[in-house]
Amino acid sequence: MAKREIFSGNWKMYKTYDEAVELVNGIKDGMPDTGGREVIVFPPAVYLRDLVKLCKGSGIEVGIQNMYFEKEGAFTGEISPLMAKDTGVRYALIGHSERRHVFRETDGDINKKVKAAFEFGLEPVLCVGELLEEREAGNPEDVVNRQLELGLKDVSSEQMSNMIIAYEPVWAIGTGKVATPEIADTMHKTIRRKIGSLYSSETAEILPVLYGGSVKPENIADLYSRDNIDGVLVGGASLKINSFLDIIHVNIN
Ligand code: PGA
Repeated sequence: MAKREIFSGNWKMYKTYDEAVELVNGIKDGMPDTGGREVIVFPPAVYLRDLVKLCKGSGIEVGIQNMYFEKEGAFTGEISPLMAKDTGVRYALIGHSERRHVFRETDGDINKKVKAAFEFGLEPVLCVGELLEEREAGNPEDVVNRQLELGLKDVSSEQMSNMIIAYEPVWAIGTGKVATPEIADTMHKTIRRKIGSLYSSETAEILPVLYGGSVKPENIADLYSRDNIDGVLVGGASLKINSFLDIIHVNIN
């Protein structure tokens, strides 16, 4: 099975509606032949239905940045997995570090969201990653292994074939401090080892593991040259047409 190559952009809470349309059109126009690479954007939820329509047939897939795990109910302000699916998106970003650390989501919440995504036909992109203190304490692998174990509880091997993992060290997100390609590659190997022990070596082998945290046109080539880095989740640099296109086209032009 050919390895997937995934380039994704997390727009976070940026862009007005007109700016979002302009960004997606710019990516569409500049995306001629990415050689089978997959491109995913995660825009703010209020624009999803329109952007899904706009991306149809372009090769750009769309995902939601977060959702609740209940199908419906008295949960003011939340978006359910059923509603997310109804917008036409294919992916759901789950457990992004800002969800974990700003909004205090626990591994238990994240596990419920992963399972809800599968239940409603969405493909989860599960984010994991350690804080700076956790890296400095010398046990970042333990942190990531625990996040995987808890986040994937009761997820079947079959479901794992529609799963993407994103490793995003918290200290590298939005800080301009990218993890060295060695640090990222080593952690991606750890992730694969853990998936191998929780599932099988075949599952671990085909699982796409993306790196995220200050990815820029200037550092993508080095990161992407590593065996265990199957793609990227880009924040800041995905908000500008040219920088996101440069990242998507690494080693193509
Ligand atoms: P950044 O964000 O590229 O701006 O560091 C990455 C992310 O949060 O997904």
